[in-house]
Amino acid sequence: MAEFPVEPFRIKTVEPIRKPEPEERQRILRQAGYNLFAVRASEVYIDLLTDSGTAAMSDNQWSGIMHGDESYAGCRNFFNLEDAVQSITGFKHFVPTHQGRAAESVLFACTVKPGDAVPSNMHFDTTQANVIARGGQPVDLIADEGLDPTLRAPFKGDIDLHKLETFIEETRPDAIPLGMLTVTNNSGGGQPVSMGNIRSTSEILHRYDIPFFLDACRYAENAYFIKLRDPAYADTPLVDIAREIFSYADGCTMSAKKDALVNIGGFLALNDDRLFEQVRQELIIREGFPTYGGLAGRDLEAIARGLWEGLEESYLSYRIGHTRYLADRLNEEGIPILEPPGGHAVYLDARRFLPHIPQEELPGQALVCALYLEGGIRSVEIGSVMFAREDPETGGTLYPELELVRMAIPRRVYTQAHLDFVVDTCRRLYEGRDEIAGLRYTYAPELLRHFTAQFEPL
Ligand code: F0G
Repeated sequence: MAEFPVEPFRIKTVEPIRKPEPEERQRILRQAGYNLFAVRASEVYIDLLTDSGTAAMSDNQWSGIMHGDESYAGCRNFFNLEDAVQSITGFKHFVPTHQGRAAESVLFACTVKPGDAVPSNMHFDTTQANVIARGGQPVDLIADEGLDPTLRAPFKGDIDLHKLETFIEETRPDAIPLGMLTVTNNSGGGQPVSMGNIRSTSEILHRYDIPFFLDACRYAENAYFIKLRDPAYADTPLVDIAREIFSYADGCTMSAKKDALVNIGGFLALNDDRLFEQVRQELIIREGFPTYGGLAGRDLEAIARGLWEGLEESYLSYRIGHTRYLADRLNEEGIPILEPPGGHAVYLDARRFLPHIPQEELPGQALVCALYLEGGIRSVEIGSVMFAREDPETGGTLYPELELVRMAIPRRVYTQAHLDFVVDTCRRLYEGRDEIAGLRYTYAPELLRHFTAQFEPL
């Protein structure tokens, strides 16, 4: 029997939600062009679109908001955040940014030139797009284990070290301005990266004088998985695991909207003095003065407090147990999910859920639409809509290996009954899966297609 963890908090503020009637859901979906990004949040019952920026902040964070110092330069909240960032990551320099992709954009503006390549275990879509926008090529080198949705392995976010080394050997050394690891690996199912893999990635990149950056948005969840799954760290305090993770890297991009438990914010942290000078210039052009970086003083304070809360053992044990509960209940119903469940989301395996829909008919997006029609649940496709690309050699379409539907879990937001409702909805859909049909595009933009594409049912 799946076990729901007891929450290490009680609820002080509530936000009413409503499930639209079945006919309303039909109409809403049609008007949204079968893209859930175009549906109003008030028309969603359980919103599992993302765990990003959707956390419930604590009383401590909300009271921090009242301590916002809105001075243009040198506000006190910047220094509180600097203390937290430096204490946890150990990096010498940092700038706040309004969210994670702004940190990516500033970093790549200073490092990537046309023709360059940036290897990673797996780039998230904004990272991928930001590398491409600079004329670079994002290269995913995830280990094969990470691509098998049925395999239960502890660290399926690991990069393939052999592929990394071969890739570096086969590329001009000055064409790789940096290498990255995404912890946890969002696009591959929220899977953690092992400490050994982080250490070896660092060794390989540094042997070739290539700087190593972490995409660290879910570093705390990754640290907790290391504690759970690597016996060498079973008794290590989480903050020390986090510090060790960061110690192998030269810098990180961070979306604070994930493990720092805030609704907006991010940062870029790094050690190199020269690069930091460039970063500051770029930041002033794009985001703002380096002591606020596109945020209000109050936001900086909420991040500073959230970073520490997001590393608490009681919180992380609840967080990972909450996600695990949803996965265990879906498993009890025989519903195909990506194994094992990640930290921030449970991913339905659309290829096994809807084996009668071929990839060109977008099984993931079809399942996303079915979840909304059946239960008013909003999820997101992480499959062909997000990642299929034109093959530069043949002009045909390159489909991704995985067709997933991510049900991301906002932090500290939904209760056990909400998750049980999600499971019941999935069970009904799975029983009637033969009735679910594929989709085709009526509009598809070139970059970041999933946000604005439109579809019609086949
Ligand atoms: N890197 C990863 C691994 C992410 O998951 C995200 C965002 C970003 C970078 C960009 O951060 O949104 O603050 O600009 N992921 C969200 C998601 C959008 O739904 O997974 P951002």
